[in-house]
Amino acid sequence: MSARTSVTATDYVEDVSPGSGALPPRAWYASSDAASLSLNGSWRFRLSPTADAQDDSFAEQGYDAGDWAQVTVPGHWVLQGHGSPVYTNHLYPFPVDPPHVPTDNPTGDHLRSFDLPEDWPDLDGGGAVLRFDGVESCARVWLNGTDIGEFKGSRLAHEFAVGHLLRPAGNVLAVRVHQWSAGSYLEDQDQWWLPGVFRDVTLLHRPAGSALDFFVHASYDHTTGEGTLRVDSDVDGRVTVPDLGVDVATGEPVTVPVEPWTAESPRLYDGVLATEGERIPLRIGFRTVRLADGLIQVNGRPLLFKGVNRHEWHPERGRALDPATMLADVLLMKRHNINAVRTSHYPPHPAFLDLCDEYGLWVIDECDLETHGFTEQGWRDNPVDDDRWTPALLDRAARMVERDKNHPSVVVWSLGNEAGTGRGLTAMAEWIHARDTSRLVHYEGDPDCRDTDMYARMYASHAEVERIGQGLDGGTRKRRRLPFVLCEYAHAMGNGPGGLADYQRIFEAHDRLQGGFVWEWIDHGIRHPELGYAYGGDFGEELHDSNFVCDGLLFPDREPSPGLVEYKKVIEPVRIEGGPDGTVRVTNRYDFADLSALAFTWSYERDGESVESGTLSVPALAAGESADVKLPQPPEDRGDAETRCTVRALLAADTAWAPRGHVVGWGQFAVTPRTPVPVAPAERPVRTDDRITLGPAVFDARTGRLTSIGGVELTGPRLDVWRATTDNDDGAPWQSDTRHGVLWRQLGLHRMQHRLDAVESGGEALTVRTRVAPAAREVGLDTVYRWTSDGHRLRLTVSVTPEGEWKLPLPRLGVRLGLPASADLVRWFGGGPGEAYPDTKSASLVSRWESRVDGMQTPYVRPQENGARADVRWVELGGLRIEGEPEFWFTARRWTAEQLDTAAHLTDLTPGDTVWVNLDHGQHGIGSQSCGPGPLPQYFLHAEPAEFSFVFSVPD
Ligand code: GAL
Repeated sequence: MSARTSVTATDYVEDVSPGSGALPPRAWYASSDAASLSLNGSWRFRLSPTADAQDDSFAEQGYDAGDWAQVTVPGHWVLQGHGSPVYTNHLYPFPVDPPHVPTDNPTGDHLRSFDLPEDWPDLDGGGAVLRFDGVESCARVWLNGTDIGEFKGSRLAHEFAVGHLLRPAGNVLAVRVHQWSAGSYLEDQDQWWLPGVFRDVTLLHRPAGSALDFFVHASYDHTTGEGTLRVDSDVDGRVTVPDLGVDVATGEPVTVPVEPWTAESPRLYDGVLATEGERIPLRIGFRTVRLADGLIQVNGRPLLFKGVNRHEWHPERGRALDPATMLADVLLMKRHNINAVRTSHYPPHPAFLDLCDEYGLWVIDECDLETHGFTEQGWRDNPVDDDRWTPALLDRAARMVERDKNHPSVVVWSLGNEAGTGRGLTAMAEWIHARDTSRLVHYEGDPDCRDTDMYARMYASHAEVERIGQGLDGGTRKRRRLPFVLCEYAHAMGNGPGGLADYQRIFEAHDRLQGGFVWEWIDHGIRHPELGYAYGGDFGEELHDSNFVCDGLLFPDREPSPGLVEYKKVIEPVRIEGGPDGTVRVTNRYDFADLSALAFTWSYERDGESVESGTLSVPALAAGESADVKLPQPPEDRGDAETRCTVRALLAADTAWAPRGHVVGWGQFAVTPRTPVPVAPAERPVRTDDRITLGPAVFDARTGRLTSIGGVELTGPRLDVWRATTDNDDGAPWQSDTRHGVLWRQLGLHRMQHRLDAVESGGEALTVRTRVAPAAREVGLDTVYRWTSDGHRLRLTVSVTPEGEWKLPLPRLGVRLGLPASADLVRWFGGGPGEAYPDTKSASLVSRWESRVDGMQTPYVRPQENGARADVRWVELGGLRIEGEPEFWFTARRWTAEQLDTAAHLTDLTPGDTVWVNLDHGQHGIGSQSCGPGPLPQYFLHAEPAEFSFVFSVPD
């Protein structure tokens, strides 16, 4: 910190202290029988370019703000037409000179007047507090002309005692909010910088005799089945829990038989804390969190986190989330088998935690702390290692813990994210451990785990996670004794993440590995009138990180992406596999629950169509148990069809989060294999002038390209190896030299030239010999197309032989053809319903599927390769039927891969007059290299000799 001094009314902006005037933090609760008044709504608003552009006369009573604009509170002014958002990942968008901030410091004056409701108690000088649940980044507050204080800590609650200032009518609340403050140095999370009063503002009556704070301690002893409840309060009162017959004084423990709380069975008991002044409803969950035998255990059992990192996001309202959006998140998580949330990287809106308690999610509650930008200077001047900042860090820790301490869902406190190491973090951890012995502490940034109860990492490769699981990773003595959590992995940016199933297998193989949290829950795209969804740079930011802010399992509108569908399958709590001798093996993968909440169905499918089905009786296996359950006899094998069996686990009854019949897990396995019908060549190519005909097909005699079949005009198939690179292909700038997207482009795979060597029409086949290669390089793909026909059907065999020294895998290997735009309805037998790639195909179910071409596109915010369907046996579209030998990857779109490749937003893509169809023999894996490892070796598409066939026909 430099020794600059100045004396202005805005000194507090650059003050490292957390603020002045606010009350000590305390437990948050949505409501009690004490009166409250929401001050959300329309506020008068004035934006100034600097912190000191305006004096504070606006806070005085009688000030006329009639010509000011209006904004909605909660909200961010930059999303309401005043200024614009800025996105950076870890770089501070201002010079790093803590605690100083730019002179250009957008400052929003917020003003509203309010009357107290007629029935407001104690009108004259009674107790009341004004609560701000979240203001970014720093605010100074006046009520009725009196300066009541200022605060920092954007995603934390701050309360002020205001009873003595209130009037029955005409109260004037003035809030000055600065975009930048010393606090911004502590809030360098990878997200949009969004100033404003973005969470609720509430006036709360505080009756005489009401508690200042209370702490609900509710533990569970799994050896006795009893829970012990003790509610500590600074004011004496009684605690009642009718369902448990509990009626005790505060501070007194009581032990009773209970059903424990877990994320799988979130049993809450309604209670009341009654003090002389207030009755506060309690929702009590009994559970005990412990580090035991080197594992995170709840109620005596180790957990496996199947988690996500959740930033708060709404495409129009930013981080100002309404209750419906919070509920939508929780329901989507539960319906996708997610059992845990890390509230990256700040405490969420407190009501979100009520939902986690109620619906059942394990929560790592993370403090609002990140100083990642200091990494640019080798962490020099890092506030977390500078005693002057420690009070601010402790204030943040205390505000999180005190606010959220009564939530059973919160099992772990996190000190923050990517803040390096330092004394401040140690001070936070010590304070938290002393204040709350009932939970564990997490922090990823210290490899020595000095302050934490678990070893946490982000984006470690599969191999490294495996080594950690085996205890071969070394580290300090303390670290070696700790359980492992992958607090971020599987970067869900664009198409992907790949490799989820492989991680899950490793997590399940080693006790020390207690699962992970996918990065991240939702794309932070901002709805934009011209661009669809905006990302970094779309608002003219001079420094930005582009679409790195769109890396979620949900699209900005909360539609699940294929990544979420894949994750749901990979983490399903019941595993269903083919077993021996006509059985299905069912394994309960819950940590606590038995399978009694699930019903099972089976079906046999012949060529993808269900021919027999029924319900299956599966024992109520306990957590961890397996059974081989006998299946009914499969249908008779007539040798002409492929038979598969699908077994599904469904909710047997309605739950709070999904209706009866909701599919929780499934498994599918082959009963009799596929036997494609051979095409016996019966026709010979016939050359007439510029055409060659072969059975139902017509070719251009000069190029050898197919032009029509059975009257269906087309742009004939030819080799295609390019895909519009995905974010994971391209990799992040700091990633290793295996950024294939970049290397592919350097090699020229996006501009391959097709040299025609021969068109041979003698004998029973039309043979077209070509060499496909990029300019300026010696590598190439010798490619031979061999066409035969039985008179009705046309068979193409493509033989590819790499020439030269190929050092890179191929993006894809197959053919691309064009059909008229009228080709729209697609029917296929193969994997679906959604897209899949080699390392993202767990959720691809082999069946009969149908879609429009437009419906097959996956709307990644930044357009890129998408929409492939895996394991396709045959597809019909545009009057054509295409069978593959072997099964193939199918893609259809109304633009070319090249157009897809150059588009920056979905709105750049406009349908042309051709439907472009890719029939791929191979696709390169997806991986997670946009921030993590690339595809595993088994998902590489190596340039090696390959042969594959397609049979084209025009069904009657
Ligand atoms: C992590 C960080 C996240 C996010 C992610 C990449 O390092 O903790 O906040 O930036 O990388 O998207």
